Formats: sequence, C-alpha cells, structure tokens
Amino acid sequence: MVISFNSIKGGVGKSTLAVNFAAWLAKEGHDVLLVDGDEQETASDFTAWREQTIGNTGYTLVNMTGANLRKQVEQMKPKYDHIVIDTGGRDTTSQRAALSVADVSMIPFAPRSFDLWTINKVIEVIDEVQAIRAEPIIPYVFLSRADIKSADNREVAQALATYEQITYVPYAISNRKAFSNAAGVGLAVFEMVQPDLKAVAEINALFNHVLHGNHITTGA
Ligand SMILES: Nc1ncnc2c1ncn2[C@@H]1O[C@H](COP(=O)(O)OP(=O)(O)OP(=O)(O)O)[C@@H](O)[C@H]1O
Ligand SMILES: [Mg+2]
Repeated sequence: MVISFNSIKGGVGKSTLAVNFAAWLAKEGHDVLLVDGDEQETASDFTAWREQTIGNTGYTLVNMTGANLRKQVEQMKPKYDHIVIDTGGRDTTSQRAALSVADVSMIPFAPRSFDLWTINKVIEVIDEVQAIRAEPIIPYVFLSRADIKSADNREVAQALATYEQITYVPYAISNRKAFSNAAGVGLAVFEMVQPDLKAVAEINALFNHVLHGNHITTGA
C-alpha cells in the first residue's frame, strides 16, 4: 500500500505521523520505504536521529521531491510491502505527485486551526485528483494534535464527517508531549523506554484502521 500524508495547512502532524507509521509498519514485519517528499527534510532528520539512537532504522529512507516523486514511487512500488510518503505543507508539486500515486491519503486536521477555507481547499484538490486517477484514492481525514478535552474536537469532527468526497476516521491523535519527545530522539511513541500508553493506543487505532480497515479499542 502507498500511504501519503497531505495537508493544506502546515504543522498539523504529517511528518510526526508519517515517521511513526513507517516505524509501526516495520515493527509489524513489513518491508517499508519512507519517502521524504519535503525539502524541510523532517523525516530525514528524524531518521538521522533514529540511526544514532537505535542503529538500524527498520525501514529505507529516500528523498524525492517535485514531479519526479510519482515516477520514482511507481518504480519502487514492487520492491516494498508499503511506502509511506511525507509531503511538505506548502509544496503543492510534491503533494500532487504523491496524491497521484498513493492508494491512501492521510489528511490530518488540527482542531484549533481548523477553518472552512482549508476544508474546501482539500475537497477541491481531492476532486481534481480523483478526476485524473484510474483508481480512486482513499482520502482519510482525522483529528491530529487534538485537545485532550475540548468541544472544538467534536465540532470539527462533525464538520469533517459531512463531506462525501472524504472519509472521516474517528480515531483522533491528541496533542501529547510523547509525540514530540519521541520524535526528537528518532523514536516512534511505542519505542520509548516508558511509552505513553494513550499515545500508543491512538496510533494503533488509526494505523490499524488504515491498514486493515478495522480498529482495536483505544483504552482512552
Ligand atoms: N500529536 C502531537 N502531539 C504533540 N505535538 C505534536 C503532535 N504532532 C505533531 N506535534 C509537534 O508539532 C510540530 C509540527 O508537527 P509536524 O512537523 O509533524 O507537522 P507537519 O504537518 O509535518 O508540518 P509541515 O507542514 O511543516 O511539514 C512539531 O513540533 C511536532 O513535534
Ligand atoms: Mg512535515
């Protein structure tokens, strides 16, 4: 499966979730390629930290940006079980290329910076992408960096669930220090010595849903 992380707004947690997903798939025994499609190179920095912290990263990292990304991912596809693509929030060329080649798009929304312009823009891009694809992409939207207790989450969730072009996944990723702490040393949240079990349960629920189309209970 080719899974691309996309967004119109920056800083919504794409890179954090992309690197956690790559490490999570590797832990499950899959052969994984992580594509850093962002010139900011967040996923590459994470992977460099990871090499220092645990040596073997468990996945292969490549940097590909711009229109080339599509062709290169097509070529790599037969060699891996799964390809995870991290794209930059503002780099539309890489995002479009990733959306043209991926099976699934993961589109995080941070509730506090949610606005209608962003969702409308996402719908517009998805409509354009679907029109030129042979097989439709599955566009998953979900809450990321969500407040642990907040009415904002519910309102945004309800708004996201009303669009037929996108598939709302009710497994939110909350704003938890564990995500940034782990990423800072090149680890996924489940690899920490004392993992934040709620953070681990959240990614398990989201990633299991994407991979298997089902979920496990979050325990939260
Ligand atoms: N669930 C979370 N809880 C707490 N902090 C988070 C979470 N997700 C991301 N962050 C932090 O928020 C910041 C932005 O996250 P990240 O780099 O993953 O976003 P992004 O969507 O990739 O941004 P960009 O559009 O610039 O590529 C980082 O400092 C990261 O550590
Ligand atoms: Mg990023």
